[in-house]
Amino acid sequence: MSASAFFQAVDGKVSNEVLDLISSEVARVEQELVRQVGSQIGTVELVGQSTLKAGGKRLRPAILGIAARATGRPFDSERAIRLGACMEMIHMATLIHDDVIDQSPLRRGQPTAHTQVGATPAILAGDVLLAKAMVLLAEDGDLQVIRTVSQMVVEMAEGEVRELEVRNQFDLSEREHMEVLRMKTAAFIECCCLVGAMIATDDATTIQALRDYGAEIGLAFQIVDDLLDYRSNDTGKPKAGDFREGQATLPLILLRKSLNNEEYAFAQRHFGTEINSDDLTLLTGWMRDRGAFDEAESRAERHVEIALAALERLPNSESRTLLESVSGLVLSRSR
Ligand code: IPE
Ligand code: IPE
Ligand code: MG
Ligand code: MG
Repeated sequence: MSASAFFQAVDGKVSNEVLDLISSEVARVEQELVRQVGSQIGTVELVGQSTLKAGGKRLRPAILGIAARATGRPFDSERAIRLGACMEMIHMATLIHDDVIDQSPLRRGQPTAHTQVGATPAILAGDVLLAKAMVLLAEDGDLQVIRTVSQMVVEMAEGEVRELEVRNQFDLSEREHMEVLRMKTAAFIECCCLVGAMIATDDATTIQALRDYGAEIGLAFQIVDDLLDYRSNDTGKPKAGDFREGQATLPLILLRKSLNNEEYAFAQRHFGTEINSDDLTLLTGWMRDRGAFDEAESRAERHVEIALAALERLPNSESRTLLESVSGLVLSRSR
């Protein structure tokens, strides 16, 4: 699904004019990304181009631009595009690194960078993208934005490390798991909203409202991602990758309490292994029939409700409505 397809699916609540504006901004981010991934170094060029060509929802740059607009204040759209491209490059770098960490062969339906060029070159090419993102930040030149984005990258990277530390913990607590989600995913989406707000206004209430929205949407986004990992055939990523790699996520964490001793031992034995499809069907059947999927969905819905409440602190506008619709898309997406 392209970025515009993701945002066009908003059910007629927002005018075509606003949607076209967002789509054209994302298209300009895309042009900037094409410029940015070019390199004299073959491996860097290959990894950058293939990551870019594989697509993606471009959620982060889009949300940055919409957040800026939702302040109701005028802003420099060139900055939104440059900083949006910066965010997407950080995202690209993170995914390249994440796929090495998770040993994942597939992303967006395509072979991952490390399966194409090897882990070490992929990690280094990811570092190059990250460094280029920092150059874009410096070109923007706003020290507050530079600090905000750099702090987010630290938080996200620490979240990935923390997740690795709790890998293979079948009995991981929900609290510890949610802290990982906050760090590795929510901090980034929060930052996109925050930076969007910062380039348009210095009103603390508006900035905080958009920030809160982003943090809550980010949590919902990752909970849904973890549900899709078990339930969707449409993600372009390997099915039940989290279970196979020994990463406990909400569907498993919420299922555990409904398992008898024998079932618990069965799930624990297969956790972190190449579980076969019959055993996986049994496991996901339990998640479905015993309410673990529903309960995880409710958690995501709860975060969306808090996000929507945060938006009520903003002036009513089409961009605010668009952010409301985005929260619906986060819940209903299939990839
Ligand atoms: C994938 O993010 C990583 C997560 C935080 C779940 P997206 O789902 O935004 O990835 P693309 O860019 O659309 O592929
Ligand atoms: C994604 O974590 C979060 C980051 C990349 C920081 P996952 O490992 O759950 O994401 P996918 O499923 O590979 O996209
Ligand atoms: Mg992963
Ligand atoms: Mg991961």
